[in-house]
Amino acid sequence: MNQGKRVGIVGAGNVGATVAYSLAMLGSCHEIILRDNKIDVAKGKALDMSQAAAAVRSHTVVSVAESMEQLTDCDVVVVTAGSPRLPGMSRDDLLMINAKITKEVIGGIAKYSPNAIVIMVSNPLDAMTYVALKESGFDRNRVLGMAGILDSSRMASFIQEKLGYGGGQIRASVMGGHGDDMVPLPRYSTVAGVPLTDVLSDNEIEEIVDRTRHGGAEIVGYLKTGSAYYAPAKSTAIMVEAILKDTKQIHPCAVYLEGEYGYSDVVSGVPVMLGANGAEKILEVTLDDEEKAMFARSCSSVQTLIDTLNEQKFFEEA
Ligand code: LAC
Repeated sequence: MNQGKRVGIVGAGNVGATVAYSLAMLGSCHEIILRDNKIDVAKGKALDMSQAAAAVRSHTVVSVAESMEQLTDCDVVVVTAGSPRLPGMSRDDLLMINAKITKEVIGGIAKYSPNAIVIMVSNPLDAMTYVALKESGFDRNRVLGMAGILDSSRMASFIQEKLGYGGGQIRASVMGGHGDDMVPLPRYSTVAGVPLTDVLSDNEIEEIVDRTRHGGAEIVGYLKTGSAYYAPAKSTAIMVEAILKDTKQIHPCAVYLEGEYGYSDVVSGVPVMLGANGAEKILEVTLDDEEKAMFARSCSSVQTLIDTLNEQKFFEEA
């Protein structure tokens, strides 16, 4: 069905490689091309994954692009390149370092895979998605950021842990940016269709919300030399699959807003319909005053980062 589809992955570190592995195991596409400055490491991982694909009788082949010029004609390109979060570092500390890397990578994608849909994974996620949009010149439906699926999955897993039941039947909802002021939405979260607010107390929900907001940092605290990658990678692979298979399913993704929820010229996480054309539709859910205030705070944090980039004349440099 997806014969001929090519997925590029820029950055073959833990997240990028795990996205590739996940897609190769599913046979989601014909070819996965890894691009990383550590070319030999990428080659080793590509061989290893192609062999794993053969083991599960998947037709996916994993190869390596030795430069951006070889990352040609991809249908989807996932960008994980960037400096990872280290303990004590906020996602925002990474802003300038990763903005420069993103600019360079996106320049290559726009040139060599001009029809690709781009999924940003590098942090700070929402600001990097903004950078990718501006630097690519692509329409906004073709530039998305992965975070909402990850944050919602974390919330779902914390709900399951708290309840002790309902695994696989929990739908958690998180909107807003991928930062400490993300917007978990208990009112839109359910266990087998039963509202979360019917099965957990306000205090319990508050604990889950707080843990969700700091879910990334909790893992960094244990790993010490890097950040999470299994759930980030799987969440990314879910987006890639939805696009390649044109599923039209709704997932929370970071996109550039043009008036939705009352915001413009900023990126935030909102429910998005994913299909062959990327972000094909943005859904506007009704938020109450408290939720609106949280969403506003989250957008303003992302805006602060964009303002910093503008103050540094980031978008004016060649
Ligand atoms: C996380 C980091 C990678 O949420 O943002 O795990």
